[in-house]
Amino acid sequence: MKTTRRGFVGTIALGTAAGVLAGTSLINKGAKAQTRANSESGMYDNGIIQLNQNESARGPGPKTMSALHAHVSKRVGRGYSPDHVNELRQGIADNYSVTTDNVQLATGSTPLLQGSVRAFCSAEKALVTPMPTYSTSLGTARQIGAKTIEQDLDSSLAVDLNALAGAARGAGLLYLCNPNNPTGTAHGPQAVEQFVRRVMRENPATMIHIDEAYINYAQHGAMETAIPLAMEFENVFITRSFSKAHGMAGLRIGYAIAQQQTLAKIRGAWGMGDVNMLGAIAALTALEDKEHIAWEAQENAEIRDMVVGVFHEMGFEVGDSNTNHIFVNIRRPAKQFRDACLENKVLVGRDFPPLHETHCRISLGSREEMAIAVEVFKKVLA
Ligand SMILES: Cc1ncc(COP(=O)(O)O)c(C=O)c1O
Repeated sequence: MKTTRRGFVGTIALGTAAGVLAGTSLINKGAKAQTRANSESGMYDNGIIQLNQNESARGPGPKTMSALHAHVSKRVGRGYSPDHVNELRQGIADNYSVTTDNVQLATGSTPLLQGSVRAFCSAEKALVTPMPTYSTSLGTARQIGAKTIEQDLDSSLAVDLNALAGAARGAGLLYLCNPNNPTGTAHGPQAVEQFVRRVMRENPATMIHIDEAYINYAQHGAMETAIPLAMEFENVFITRSFSKAHGMAGLRIGYAIAQQQTLAKIRGAWGMGDVNMLGAIAALTALEDKEHIAWEAQENAEIRDMVVGVFHEMGFEVGDSNTNHIFVNIRRPAKQFRDACLENKVLVGRDFPPLHETHCRISLGSREEMAIAVEVFKKVLA
């Protein structure tokens, strides 16, 4: 059975965790559990620490919160040509020195992932994807009956760019998640450029999607954006998200940067949704608040170091993470670890085949959450 990110909570609620959660459970409260979250801590009211979806425990920065509050008004009654959406598009274009024709907004980057597979893949034209990586592109390819080619990671659990490029012949789309979810590894600019130039030389009809959702969390010097390559090659496009370091997963805003004819193909294949005015003003403020993003990256890095240190002390290997999650070799099935953590009210990541017998992805929460979570990890791994 395929377990989606959002479906997973439902699955555990109905399955192994039923006993633990009964009474105050997600089962009884259903969808209301989310609306009754504690808005200060970000925790759900049943007290489960959510380390399973790579969201932000800290939410938006103070300037973005103020902008949101300032724009909650009767003005939301007008919204079919929502204020601030064009400003956001212009702001993104200015930020990367491209034109607004090079920017496609969407309600999260998810519609862009879905639309690009629909635009460029078919029964004959494969989606080539690393395994494991973020699975929306693969899920969409399966949904539409497109051919899929899955490539193992290399021995350091990084995306194998040679294997990806080697499978490009006749393929519709190569998906490169940089940094990679779930393993957290990143490729530097030279490696990405060599990969893109090789594919464009050998298979000029193939498209390349570089998903930079986690770029703000990358370690200093580990990677750079591939936007210049998207400006150079019509077949390359970049996606970004406000759901990660900008702390706005619930506001649903993402974007792609590419040449305008490439963006036209993607939006022609699938609806991109309508970005709303509150989301737009929040995203514009967050984009401009460089100070907060630097703080957020530092905060995440310190928490990451602390948690990685705890696993190292216990003798477990952890991949070098450039994201807000870590991928730990727990030397046992992820499900076993997940169930044990959940009994202690900590929810960690889903299975990532083919590494689910040994590895588990843990999203990084706030300092307070992780201080509790590491005690749980120590207890269940003892
Ligand atoms: C690599 C990657 N890309 C894209 C997304 C989708 O995010 P959103 O639709 O919130 O922008 C995620 C979410 O976890 C992700 O991990």
